[in-house]
Amino acid sequence: MEIEIRSEPLAQLSTSALVAYCFEEAPASSGTVERLPAEIRTQLQPLQAAGELTGKAFECTLLRSPAGMAASRLLLVGAGKRAKFSEMCLRNLVGTAVRHLRSRGVRELAWILSSSEPGAVAFVAEGALVADYDADRYRTERNGEKGIDKLVLATGGEALPTGAESALARGRILGEAQNFTRELVNEPSNQLTPTRLAERGTEMAARFGLACEVLGPQAIQDLKMGAFWAVAQGSKEPARLIIVRYSPEGAPHQPRVGLIGKGITFDSGGISIKPSENMHEMKTDMAGGATMLGVMQAIAQLKPRVRVTALIPATENMPGGNAYKPGDVITSMSGKTVEILNTDAEGRLVLADALTYAKRLGCTVLIDVATLTGAVMIALGNFTTGVFGWNKEWVNRVLTAASAAGEKMWQLPVDDDYRELYKSTIADMANTGGRYGGAITGAMFIGEFAGDTPWVHLDIAGTRWANDEKPYRAKGPTGHGVHTLVQLLTDLSI
Ligand code: BES
Ligand code: MN
Ligand code: ZN
Repeated sequence: MEIEIRSEPLAQLSTSALVAYCFEEAPASSGTVERLPAEIRTQLQPLQAAGELTGKAFECTLLRSPAGMAASRLLLVGAGKRAKFSEMCLRNLVGTAVRHLRSRGVRELAWILSSSEPGAVAFVAEGALVADYDADRYRTERNGEKGIDKLVLATGGEALPTGAESALARGRILGEAQNFTRELVNEPSNQLTPTRLAERGTEMAARFGLACEVLGPQAIQDLKMGAFWAVAQGSKEPARLIIVRYSPEGAPHQPRVGLIGKGITFDSGGISIKPSENMHEMKTDMAGGATMLGVMQAIAQLKPRVRVTALIPATENMPGGNAYKPGDVITSMSGKTVEILNTDAEGRLVLADALTYAKRLGCTVLIDVATLTGAVMIALGNFTTGVFGWNKEWVNRVLTAASAAGEKMWQLPVDDDYRELYKSTIADMANTGGRYGGAITGAMFIGEFAGDTPWVHLDIAGTRWANDEKPYRAKGPTGHGVHTLVQLLTDLSI
């Protein structure tokens, strides 16, 4: 999508569709509708009177050949109640316009820049890009190919807010990074094997000037990653540990951030096999890893002054003849022993060794993102990511970044009482803690491997995938978490 800033008066802007938004309180004369030529606004009064233009959230009213305007169409998008409005809402409003127009074969739109705040420009660019994604990659007649070619940001003759250009770049980078993550999450496991995921990571790193290293089965065993290897050995597909580094010259040596993303390209459950209903959804079990690749792509372009290493343990979890079994005891890279009570609790195992390795590589703060538990979906549903960690300062940094990014995240507790639940009679700990508090015990298991290093865990099992289409976003992979982590890393840069 090409994005261009234009400054001619709105009546003279020649475009396929000029888009304005309005509030419920005064649909014909609020929001950016207020900035349209008087002649048009007069014509909107009867629409409002007839109840055809209400300003209700995401209502779309499309007028053809608006009188006195160079635009071929005028699209009015409802912004809901004014009191609930914030700049962040622009993302969903522009997104609604994008999806409404592209489904009608329109390839270009002009969005009226509404405020003097440059931040708004970032939200508009991000919202348009995110909305223009469809998860129909393997459909022979794709919607995805019928997307928007060009987004015009129309100032209507007003001065451009200072910083608008860099805000536009930031919004574009954030939108593209989320779409990259969504594309990876959407890939079926026969296409995106651990090997292919590593290749996609390597390609991205080369394109954006990052260092990338990929370890295979031999190196994983040589490093004594017994927990990661236990999961990997049940699959014919060779495992990969993907390591992507961003270390800008002159950045402070501390903190050195380790981003660890769960990269299970398919989770059958292993010997503790999952029921077949919905098992296909387990192609998305590498969403944490995909999140980290999206984040790395974004920071390679935004260039915050902070050192970051992403580690993605990638493997299938399969019940092959060599698979690990319930009752097995394995020795993790840290030396801690683990009794396997359920081979479907595989995420925490691959993350345990990746965390240990991140510390060995010199990371001083660890953030892991994982589709870890069904339990977090029971607790928080599909819209909110679970946040866990002992270190208040880092948990709060993540929560602050999430609210700036407009992603819903909520802290759940970690507490010594829960330790009892994953005790083992034979080994240092068991890999499951039972049904009650399953998201907490899963998180705490990972935390055992962080030790004293500040650590935050994000459980995105619920938020990785949207079960319903929204006016501004396709059904399917969400890219949830990318914006928050990019925000966190750019906050650290200051
Ligand atoms: N990948 C799953 C968690 C999951 C479930 C992600 C649904 C997305 C949607 C994870 O590996 C898993 O199987 N967790 C088990 C843990 C249990 C065996 C302790 C679970 O949540 O049931
Ligand atoms: Mn599992
Ligand atoms: Zn899993």
